[in-house]
Amino acid sequence: MKNNLHQTAEKLVEDGKGILAADESTATITKRFSQINLESTPENRRSYREMLFRTKNAMESYISGVILYDETIRQNCQSGEKMTDLLVATDTLIGIKVDTGAKSLSLFEGEVITEGLDGLRERLYEYKQIGASFAKWRAVISITDKTPTDYAIHTNADALARYASLCQENGLVPIVEPEILMDGDKSKHTIDRCYEVTSKTLDIVFAKLIDAKVDLKGIILKPNMVIAGINALDQATEIEVAEQTLKCLEEHMPDSVPGVCFLSGGQNDVDATKHLSIMNKMKETDIKLSFSYGRALQQSALITWGGKDENMLEAQQAFEHRAQMNSLAAKGEWSENLEK
Ligand code: 13P
Repeated sequence: MKNNLHQTAEKLVEDGKGILAADESTATITKRFSQINLESTPENRRSYREMLFRTKNAMESYISGVILYDETIRQNCQSGEKMTDLLVATDTLIGIKVDTGAKSLSLFEGEVITEGLDGLRERLYEYKQIGASFAKWRAVISITDKTPTDYAIHTNADALARYASLCQENGLVPIVEPEILMDGDKSKHTIDRCYEVTSKTLDIVFAKLIDAKVDLKGIILKPNMVIAGINALDQATEIEVAEQTLKCLEEHMPDSVPGVCFLSGGQNDVDATKHLSIMNKMKETDIKLSFSYGRALQQSALITWGGKDENMLEAQQAFEHRAQMNSLAAKGEWSENLEK
């Protein structure tokens, strides 16, 4: 029998829909705003996110859920209504980032551990009351000649499993995000190395989720694509990225997981769309592959907006365009000429 968690997870990956990751921490959104020389104040963050959430057609047609940051889930629009009401009005599921960020892993140089387990049960309970139906926790793994260590993978996977079980206990679908960063060393971060590290990480994460009694039908996996590092001398073709990513998921993700929503991880926006579409065209199983993009959905809208009211309409069009392109990609129906 399907319970609410299963229904929510399936709704997040409904045909042609995906997730908008708008959960940048204050530090991260400040970095994004610096590209347009905009001060990162609560009002500017609200104007920007309100602009995205008020892009009615994009939200209704292409976006299943939005991941919010704590500030936004509690914030009111300029007109006084709650920001979350904008999402309810377009039948968009409300998600919340609940980790408190990746901190350096003591005694393991260059590696990080995601924090946020203390008090998590109480926070999840409160977010559920506010209207959230899913949550996100991002673990970060990096590729260098010495990393990742087994310990870093295991301890991050333990935290993901503990988070996921607490989410399900509180009626929230956990988005399980073990991100292998794309910015590894030039010579070390090949697609083959990414395949190896992603496979190993997924094996460990799923073993821990199962040990923690997490119901895999009530989660969404948010992985990186299997791809060469941004600075890698040897870049893989788009077909290789699609083939290796599909193979990795088919071999290392249990079938019971209802869907995959990729992160974009620093790929440019059209590449993130292209890779997703090729995978959906290529796949031979009924695995659900969609998006949970931050930068790849927002970058063009942010630049077009530039912090100016008069650019809002055009910025909304830019956001809607990327949302539509990714919606098509989630069905394997995107093509390059639609970008023009
Ligand atoms: P990007 O798509 O910009 O990588 O962000 C997705 C995300 O939510 C990372 O946690």
